[in-house]
Amino acid sequence: MTNAARLIIVGCGHMGLAIVRGLLGATPRPEIVVVETSADRRAVLSTYEGFAMTSELEIADDDFVVLAVPPQVFGAFADAERHKFTPRTPVLSVMAGLTAHAIATALGTSQVVRAIPNTPSEVFEGMSVYFAEPAVEQRTISQADELLRSIGKAFRVGAEELVDDATAICGGGPAFVSYIVDAFCQFATSCGFTEAAGREMAVQVFGGTATLIAESGKPPMQLCREVMTPNGTTERGIAAFDAAGLKKSVLTALAASAHRSRELASMGAGARPGETDG
Ligand SMILES: NC(=O)c1ccc[n+]([C@@H]2O[C@H](COP(=O)([O-])OP(=O)(O)OC[C@H]3O[C@@H](n4cnc5c(N)ncnc54)[C@H](OP(=O)(O)O)[C@@H]3O)[C@@H](O)[C@H]2O)c1
Repeated sequence: MTNAARLIIVGCGHMGLAIVRGLLGATPRPEIVVVETSADRRAVLSTYEGFAMTSELEIADDDFVVLAVPPQVFGAFADAERHKFTPRTPVLSVMAGLTAHAIATALGTSQVVRAIPNTPSEVFEGMSVYFAEPAVEQRTISQADELLRSIGKAFRVGAEELVDDATAICGGGPAFVSYIVDAFCQFATSCGFTEAAGREMAVQVFGGTATLIAESGKPPMQLCREVMTPNGTTERGIAAFDAAGLKKSVLTALAASAHRSRELASMGAGARPGETDG
């Protein structure tokens, strides 16, 4: 990142580390400071190189703060650390279910970008969607955008509710896709393939299809129809999906997940442990 003096990553669990790993590969590599309160986690993080680590948050002028702590600890975090933020400290929050306004109010900075990234960020294949209130300066938005693009793709939305929908599509997406991939693996092993062979087939089919959809630019249903010979094997499978209402189930699941994100947003920082996740 070009403009910030240092990147302060607060909370370095799955998502924080995914971001750090993305940043370590960036050119030029920014100065990174990880703030992590868990001693066990710090021991894991000490096996990585390229960043400083501390348990105490310190913010200098021009630092850019990334908040990747669990949402349920944010209230206590804000109470304890608010005095370290200025009204212009740039903050990128990846916490699910906490609105930009709630975070800005709790920390006393107007410069909050709210994003929802996802775990494929760990392998630089993340998908992040972010929102910023009109008061957020272009410099902060550019810094957040650049950071998120170092770990995958990212774009800004103009309405914050879309971050809740993206929480279902992108944040939870890797879980939903993995759930389906698992069904492919289960079927493969039930047919007699080894677990490794089943995994290889399932992963290559999902990865290959994603690349095909992206590179061909064709609508997914066109690619679906291209595989469906009339009265053939794929048509029989799709008919079974339709009979079971699979597409409706997927739509229902995504809507339920997005609804849950809105519920959590309305609960704000008062959410109880275990009630918020990615
Ligand atoms: N995982 C996902 O797929 C995903 C996707 C999108 C967004 N997110 C968001 O990303 C954030 C982190 O999720 P995660 O899955 O990475 O959670 P996680 O693995 O639990 O990591 C959070 C880390 O922050 C530490 N921490 C807690 N309070 C802290 C504080 N005051 N200062 C510094 N570190 C602190 C935790 O330590 P302790 O264990 O000791 O509490 C833990 O190591 C959450 O807000 C989540 O909503 C996650």
